[in-house]
Amino acid sequence: MAYPYQIKNLDEYQQAYQQSVIDPEGFWAHVADHFYWRRKWDKVLEWDFKQPDVKWFLGGKLNITENCLDRHLGSLGSTPAIIWEPNDPEEHHRVLTYRDLYNKVCQFATVLKNNGVQKGDRVCIYMGMIPELAIAVLACARIGAIHSVVFGGFSAQSIADRIQDAQCSLVITCDGAFRGNKDIPLKSVIDDALMACPSVKKVIVCTRTRTPVSMLKGRDVWWEDEIKQVETLGNPPCPAEEMDAEDMLFILYTSGSTGKPKGVVHTCGGYMVYANYTFVNTFQYQPGEVYFCTADIGWITGHSYILYGPLSAGATTLMFEGIPTWPDAGRLWDITDKYRVNILYTAPTAIRSLMGFGLGPVNHKDLSSLRKLGSVGEPINEEAWQWFKTHIGKDKCPIVDTWWQTETGGIMITPIAGITKEKPGYATLPLPGVQPMLVDENGQEVTGNGVNGNLCIKFPWPGMIRTTYGDHERCRKTYFATYENLYFTGDGCLRDEDGYYRITGRVDDVLNVSGHRIGTAEVENAINMHAGVVESAVVGYPHDIKGQGIYAYVITDRLTHDMELTKKDIIQTVSRIIGPIAKPDKIQFVSGLPKTRSGKIMRRILRKIAEGEMDNLGDTTTLLDPAVVEEIKRGRL
Ligand code: WT7
Repeated sequence: MAYPYQIKNLDEYQQAYQQSVIDPEGFWAHVADHFYWRRKWDKVLEWDFKQPDVKWFLGGKLNITENCLDRHLGSLGSTPAIIWEPNDPEEHHRVLTYRDLYNKVCQFATVLKNNGVQKGDRVCIYMGMIPELAIAVLACARIGAIHSVVFGGFSAQSIADRIQDAQCSLVITCDGAFRGNKDIPLKSVIDDALMACPSVKKVIVCTRTRTPVSMLKGRDVWWEDEIKQVETLGNPPCPAEEMDAEDMLFILYTSGSTGKPKGVVHTCGGYMVYANYTFVNTFQYQPGEVYFCTADIGWITGHSYILYGPLSAGATTLMFEGIPTWPDAGRLWDITDKYRVNILYTAPTAIRSLMGFGLGPVNHKDLSSLRKLGSVGEPINEEAWQWFKTHIGKDKCPIVDTWWQTETGGIMITPIAGITKEKPGYATLPLPGVQPMLVDENGQEVTGNGVNGNLCIKFPWPGMIRTTYGDHERCRKTYFATYENLYFTGDGCLRDEDGYYRITGRVDDVLNVSGHRIGTAEVENAINMHAGVVESAVVGYPHDIKGQGIYAYVITDRLTHDMELTKKDIIQTVSRIIGPIAKPDKIQFVSGLPKTRSGKIMRRILRKIAEGEMDNLGDTTTLLDPAVVEEIKRGRL
């Protein structure tokens, strides 16, 4: 498959960028023309950031799976679509060609229909990284069901919240999942979650770990049994449901500054075009290349850059079940060697943790197939960038530092591999179609170069968030109300003398821990569930590997007890309420929190103390009780 809209050099980038600003509709129509539409759109774009109300390719009809599967069968039927590497290197890998994947998606789509799923229904998917996860996601898309994938590290409570919010009618899960030396009992977690989820009528369970599970009669069925039934019927064809360009494709929950995660909604047409365009251009994908993204499909990176982007481009995408450090820290390099990986897209936290093992696990690995490297999820520090460049890319691979968000659907600011001159720590320049703008606290545009500001986007792009599920007002307030007529990203940003962008991190109460987005309020709510906790405040602090660590200040009424035990209990509580990814790294017991006279916690002070910047706490004159700050400083961990 050739990509007529693939940028080939810096001149073409500049031209495409200019055109995308002067005539956005013409620009995106030209890209969208290279997809398979059942019916062409009547109008490219309608938008109003006040509501917000954004629609792309109005009146267009399509099914994203026809673009990811059907249209490739002729030329790429026997080309690998998904290469799957299991957790245990001793276990056999699997290869699914485009034909195989098509057949399996059709089969499972029929299973979903047999189990009562209809267009528009919400389906929760809670599985490990096995090919059946990809099949489940695509099968939903094929019949027009809205998938809501929940990362396998979330707890029963988190799953229940997400299922209730979306009123899911069916759950797809596994008996368990392998992750390094762990075996996570997914079905048992689902059983706990479903006690509070009356909307769920059916659960489909795929076998992976053979962990014993209990199956509830009338509700739970086995994936394999259901497939057998479809086979008995001779695998009837499963035509794709015709979707409107603006019909919902999926919901993906993400954390914000309030205690409740929000369901980011993406729609069929614009998301497809954007995921594909950004994949093909950022990574300069060439037909035949093996592309390996180490993310989990439970996050947006997995949705856009393991599945929809690569598959819509007819690429070969490698899906990995395990973790970079098991059985040893050479795992990613062994996989690269084994499959002759050409493009590797990973996260700064993975790079930093592997750096910690030295060059032993890298030496003597054949990484000569690598041509392009990518980084995503958090700011990459220069040391990690250089290590990646030198020791993995052997100084011959471009690195793309891609900035984007769950809400943006796809990459926004990034170098184009091998084309944009790179600068360590910089996401560099916006892709065509992306119009960044920096604003100051008062919403005034910050112009010129060598300036800092809050990062906003001033014009719609096809992959952008359409709403937050079930609560449009929340979408408006969170992203479109801070600054009039702008999409606000929540990130701080520097634009340097060259006009290059460098993302400096969140400016709201959202943490980025190992590339996972976690709201401080969510962690506080979880800590406060512990019976011995009176009040808590959570902030982030710099962490060598995770980027940010979680620092919790806790007031407890159990000061006479074994405090280490109480700490363990609190950590356990957070793990149970949210999931292990949100466990505090440090817990400091305090007798009070710094508050203003009106009772507002002064987080700025707590953040400074956690960061170790104790002599520079800024204005503390509005504090109710300055003595408490001195106590907190003395007790700092
Ligand atoms: C937040 C979005 C993008 C998919 C994975 C995370 C931070 C993301 C970068 C980058 C600096 C980055 C931002 C953003 N972020 N990429 N290249 N450089 N920061 O998606 O969970 O929606 O988180 O991750 O702070 O707002 P997410």
